[in-house]
Amino acid sequence: MSALEGKNILVGISGGIAAYKTPTLIRFLIKKGARVKVVATKNALEFVTTLTLQTLSDNKVYTDMFGEWNDTSTKHISLSEWADCFVVAPATANIIGKYANGIADDVLSTTLLAFKKTVFLCPAMNSVMYFNKSVQRNLNILRQDGIQIIDSEEGFLACGTSGKGRMEEPEIIVDKVEKFFAQNLDFSNRVITITAGPTRERIDSVRFISNNSSGRMGVVIAEEFINRGANVNLILGPVSIDIPKNDRLNIVGVESAEDMYKQTLRYAQNSSIIVCAAAVADYTSKDKYKGKMKKKIDVLQLDLVPTKDILKELGKKKTYSQILVGFALEMDNELENAKQKLHSKNLDFIILNSLRDKGAGFEVETNKVTIIDKNDTIKEFPLKSKKEVARDIVDLIKEYI
Ligand code: CTP
Repeated sequence: MSALEGKNILVGISGGIAAYKTPTLIRFLIKKGARVKVVATKNALEFVTTLTLQTLSDNKVYTDMFGEWNDTSTKHISLSEWADCFVVAPATANIIGKYANGIADDVLSTTLLAFKKTVFLCPAMNSVMYFNKSVQRNLNILRQDGIQIIDSEEGFLACGTSGKGRMEEPEIIVDKVEKFFAQNLDFSNRVITITAGPTRERIDSVRFISNNSSGRMGVVIAEEFINRGANVNLILGPVSIDIPKNDRLNIVGVESAEDMYKQTLRYAQNSSIIVCAAAVADYTSKDKYKGKMKKKIDVLQLDLVPTKDILKELGKKKTYSQILVGFALEMDNELENAKQKLHSKNLDFIILNSLRDKGAGFEVETNKVTIIDKNDTIKEFPLKSKKEVARDIVDLIKEYI
């Protein structure tokens, strides 16, 4: 398996002749299982066509700060959040200079400044320009800023001379990016079970009791583990979000709390980490009518009986080497309630969402969590995208292991 499998990679192209090699780079990244989106400057498109880039990446190409970004005015931010890394190939003296000095005046430079994860720059220019003091100074600034420079090689240059400044070959760039991710495959060979989404408790054949959980938090945790090499069983209630397919993701669709209980217990037996992110119904209808219940009386009384607490059961069965993580969605006495759940369900971590926090909880793309471990150590996190929250959770589990 390639460490690039399932990775979201942003490819930036600035205007240099080496841009003719970028389609090959995109092709290689996709062959290794990565998803690619392209951000290109207007000058880059003098060397390579939008159609080529669009066809190879199977995605829209971002070239204009305003015109085509009309889906959202902060696209550079959402692209930055989407991507796991940013590869700029070729990186001209111009983009290197802008990036080193914090200038954002087009789509590529703006997206670069909005990017918080790893950036790889692949310089390409004539060797006199490459050795120009200002270019070397800018490259050094970027190195000190933690930017990965995939340095130019010696060779024949487009201007007819020979020397340093040729963009590194696409195979080698892909290899370096792959190696970078391979170092981060810290969950390979681990089996993980995650519950996500709501459950549906049938009243009759056409009606049910459920909740607003979108399943998104559990799904992004599953993706984070997969990106870091794990095999994941996702025990998933009825949801309508898209879940990218992956050979190491086993989706087990369930409907009711009872189904979720059975499947989770089954898969948890062989899992070293179990994360219960599902919003499981606490009650289910005692009687499940076959067919559609007729409207008969003014007041309809439904008898509800408690469902089984999956997490609590997992806590009872937990083995020495298992790590068990739960969620708590609270309104009042948040910390006290979360701690109580942590200990009574025998968990290693509990992730607390407060319904009082704006941007946290169900049906939103963001979340604000506080994570408490079994020693009652409390870590508070700011409001972040659910993808970033998933990374924090997985990082914390890694630290704990
Ligand atoms: N959970 C579960 N099975 C249930 C109910 C909850 O596995 N039948 C899990 C959830 O997936 C979550 C944790 O338990 O990880 C806490 O869920 P929450 O609804 O916050 O708490 P409850 O224990 O149901 O208590 P209450 O609703 O009274 O707050």
